Amino acid sequence: MRPSPNIWHTPDVYELENQAFDRADQVGAAIDALHPLAGATLLDIGCGTGYHLPGFADRGARVLGLEPHPPLARLAAARLADRPESSARQAPSPAPEPAPGPPAPSPAVARRAGVLTGEAEHLPLANATVDVAVARWAYFFGPGCEPGLAEVERVLRPGGLAAFLDNDATRSRFGGWFAASLPAYDPIAVRRFWRRQGFTALDLDLAWECPDRATFEAIVRIEFEPALADRILATHPGTSVDYAVTLWHRTH
Ligand SMILES: C[S@@+](CC[C@H](N)C(=O)[O-])C[C@H]1O[C@@H](n2cnc3c(N)ncnc32)[C@H](O)[C@@H]1O
Repeated sequence: MRPSPNIWHTPDVYELENQAFDRADQVGAAIDALHPLAGATLLDIGCGTGYHLPGFADRGARVLGLEPHPPLARLAAARLADRPESSARQAPSPAPEPAPGPPAPSPAVARRAGVLTGEAEHLPLANATVDVAVARWAYFFGPGCEPGLAEVERVLRPGGLAAFLDNDATRSRFGGWFAASLPAYDPIAVRRFWRRQGFTALDLDLAWECPDRATFEAIVRIEFEPALADRILATHPGTSVDYAVTLWHRTH
């Protein structure tokens, strides 16, 4: 499991970060354009608290979240169970049994969605059972993620899509902060890695847009070490920042 202190220790603040990022859901629209989500079985690897699962379900996907950290898997399962039936679409076929760990969602929800406990390196799914595999800031950070990539290959149906969202340290104000926080990070080597694996880059220019300065400060502080967060907050006023990301994608 890769340490994720931001969401493990402060899931409530991470929720605010998710709300602030990409408010128009350009990432969801981009994935939908690469592979239609209506009727698709979508696996969100490292889904955290399942923040993005309802959005994919709203686009017509039968959603499966996968999360190794049990407290987060429970939050993700609860988020799906709380979803009003009226705003969800029925998926065509039943979801697999959720793995031991988080409580099972209600039977109505389980038909269209579920949360599994597990890791990218050992997906608890049969071969060729997934149409779209997504991960957002989870596990697929370039070199070292080959075991997870092999697993994604295994579970994708022919014609299925793998789409992984990660930061772009070469563009945008946020990208500069990200680069400053990881001096050893080599964005060119990461891009080379993805291209060698047969992935294509879709660069997106997005933003954090917060309702107030207190929220902006809180999410800066869960993403960066205290000294860097202090420098960022001393030099960057306001409640928003431009934030470049790359959606790495490949059709199976
Ligand atoms: C920064 S959080 C992102 C959560 C979620 N994708 C989101 O956008 O809200 C990274 C997540 O990856 C999960 N993770 C860590 N190691 C993993 C692994 N080996 N396989 C799958 N997920 C992993 C963490 O537990 C955490 O929930």
